Amino acid sequence: MSVSGFDLTGQVAVLTGAGSGIGKATALTLAEAGATVVGGDIDVDAVTATADEITAAGGTARAMRTDVTQRADVDLLIDGAKSEFGRVDIVGNIAGVPHNRMIAECSDDEFERILAINLKSVFYGCQAALRVMGEQGSGNIINVSSGAIDTPAPTLACYGMTKAAVAMLTKTLACEAGPLGIRVNALAPGVIETNFSRHNFVDEDGNVDPERLEKYRARFGAMAPLKRVGSAQDVADSILFLVSERSSFMTGQILRPNGGTAMPW
Ligand SMILES: NC(=O)c1ccc[n+]([C@@H]2O[C@H](COP(=O)([O-])OP(=O)(O)OC[C@H]3O[C@@H](n4cnc5c(N)ncnc54)[C@H](O)[C@@H]3O)[C@@H](O)[C@H]2O)c1
Repeated sequence: MSVSGFDLTGQVAVLTGAGSGIGKATALTLAEAGATVVGGDIDVDAVTATADEITAAGGTARAMRTDVTQRADVDLLIDGAKSEFGRVDIVGNIAGVPHNRMIAECSDDEFERILAINLKSVFYGCQAALRVMGEQGSGNIINVSSGAIDTPAPTLACYGMTKAAVAMLTKTLACEAGPLGIRVNALAPGVIETNFSRHNFVDEDGNVDPERLEKYRARFGAMAPLKRVGSAQDVADSILFLVSERSSFMTGQILRPNGGTAMPW
């Protein structure tokens, strides 16, 4: 028996970071649910491969080289989707990069770079989404924060600050956009096995080292009551829920696909 309320037929989803990991899994999942997907990523080959996969499976998708640190690129991605398909129902601000550096050792350039990729990009994406969705009177915005907002740890200051700001941006925008018919929610995933965490389990040549991969899974899996690391699909499924009718009374929330590593109220 299938459960209704998850069908996205007729909806247009714009996703950043759609070339890899969580963004790619989300693109494939929303397309499977019937959405047209417009993906943006700085890695144009990777995002083109995602779009090709969707098209090969019978869906509709577009790919664009987008550097989310550039407001003009983000505007073009979202306005382009509106021009071609007539509407934008879902915007997922997913692109992001890891960063590990002790506060004492972090340069200005590094700080600015992480702010630009992980935070300013989301602000640009929210503003562009709001412009299009405000006219429509409907829409779902999803921002990807991180479990790093729940557990301070050495070297995670810059990353954690950007992700905490993304959470606050989400809640504030939810207050402002709710009356316009727009829902805004965020994800704070735990440890998810993607290219993001690849440095933990590759050898010097960049190839996956099975032994290091097992160690990574054991070490980070042990932190979670569910005793495993997450997959990109785990997060994509949470996003599907947040953009579906089945979460229609939820806005301003931080959903945590994290295996139980943190359980804030
Ligand atoms: N993997 C994890 O453990 C984890 C945990 C919590 C949160 N997150 C967040 O999830 C999001 C997605 O991460 P992921 O795990 O899928 O990583 P990933 O590396 O697999 O994918 C990130 C994608 O973003 C793209 N990207 C990077 N810089 C960009 C830029 N300037 N413009 C456009 N695209 C750019 C990359 O090319 C890549 O395709 C990030 O925001 C990350 O901070 C990841």
